[in-house]
Amino acid sequence: MLDISTFDAAGGLLDPRIYTDEDVYQQELKEVFARSWLFLAHESQLPKRGSFVQTYMGEDPVLVVRQRDGSVKAFLNQCRHRGMRICRADEGTSKTFTCSYHGWAYDLEGNLINVPEEDRAYRHDIDKSKWGALKVPRVTNYKGLIFGTWSDDVPEFEEYLGEMAFYLDAVLDRYDGGIELVPGGMKWVIDCNWKFAAEQFASDMYHAPISHASAAIALFEDPEMQRMMSAKGAPGRQFAGNGHGSGSYWVRVFGPDPQFGPAFNAWHIAEREAIFERIGEERAHKVHAHNTIFPNFSWLGLSNTLRVWHPRGAGQIEVWAWAFVPKNAPQEVKEDIAAGSQFTFSPAGVFETDDGENWTEVQSVLRGHMARQNTFNAQMGLGYEERDTHGLPGLSNDVYSETAARGFYQRWKDLMLGTSWSEITKLDEARRAAENFGKAEKEVQSS
Ligand code: FES
Ligand SMILES: [Fe+2]
Repeated sequence: MLDISTFDAAGGLLDPRIYTDEDVYQQELKEVFARSWLFLAHESQLPKRGSFVQTYMGEDPVLVVRQRDGSVKAFLNQCRHRGMRICRADEGTSKTFTCSYHGWAYDLEGNLINVPEEDRAYRHDIDKSKWGALKVPRVTNYKGLIFGTWSDDVPEFEEYLGEMAFYLDAVLDRYDGGIELVPGGMKWVIDCNWKFAAEQFASDMYHAPISHASAAIALFEDPEMQRMMSAKGAPGRQFAGNGHGSGSYWVRVFGPDPQFGPAFNAWHIAEREAIFERIGEERAHKVHAHNTIFPNFSWLGLSNTLRVWHPRGAGQIEVWAWAFVPKNAPQEVKEDIAAGSQFTFSPAGVFETDDGENWTEVQSVLRGHMARQNTFNAQMGLGYEERDTHGLPGLSNDVYSETAARGFYQRWKDLMLGTSWSEITKLDEARRAAENFGKAEKEVQSS
């Protein structure tokens, strides 16, 4: 396998084989996906006792279920008899789950509760308590977002989030009552490695004025918006920390937004003062655009889309995306947002299709032997990182930088090398004390 220890994430030198190598991919499932907090569901998808959704943690199918006591639990959606999916529906409400192969039945927690023909087939000699579904040991609910992990040593979710909480809360606390997902998520397949999508949402505003030029010119009248912040008058910042990334360009977020209809625009302007009160005026204006929580959960604050990049081999992803709306907004406002979100970021969205085109193209170029030996440059803004500027916590840089990309790959490398979470926590402290990832890595290596 590729020698990950020589991979220079901090220096912004990307070996393209990390996007194509099948051994690297198998190692990712084990070291990255099974050791990180992964998004499972939003609680609005689980309104009642017995409500469930099926999702994936990496490639592992998982059932996420609202319990009788109102809590949410998750377990591997794999029958212990011969490995069939216990539940084959994407979502619904149930009292039990019965495997459609031979009929073993499980309760809402994944305990095995019934085995057909138990007396004749097993002579009553099966201990059902030993053959329940594999439970996801840690599940947490962060302001309505449900995350789970197989790891017993990854820090608590709040610590894992770190300073990224400021940027996540800017969305979750923005509206009275938080957010909910519009029923009916969208799912589609893109032939690219999962890291292209996750890294771009963490870090890349640089592509927007080029890749999205035609859509922006068609959609926006304001020349500044058409250039998608390439104008000097539209600054922005990027945040990096704990492998997560967030980028914002500072636009007039309370003016008429042509992505959405008149109902949303009128409501949003009327809500302005209340939003300022909840999250602060600066934050309400500044913290919006693109975001990734490591490894594969992303959202766009300006287009109200939230998604997971489920990996499907080294060269493919399944995108699962939902429009999110303020929970307490009037129905017509929610419908406006859902339509606007779908228009911009959905399988046929005017911006979304530009992004997928880039990722599949890069992936197909990497079929070439020479193309895979050619180092990629992720050095934008290297050495120009700052801390706690513009009222924004954490390590930041111009939004035109790849600080968050380097941070993303640094966390990826830490995990891929099998580094324990307690060691990663120490490394993070050293990195936080330094000005940039490159300098921090040198100090960490020489200490
Ligand atoms: S595989 Fe589920 S009952 Fe046999
Ligand atoms: Fe994009």
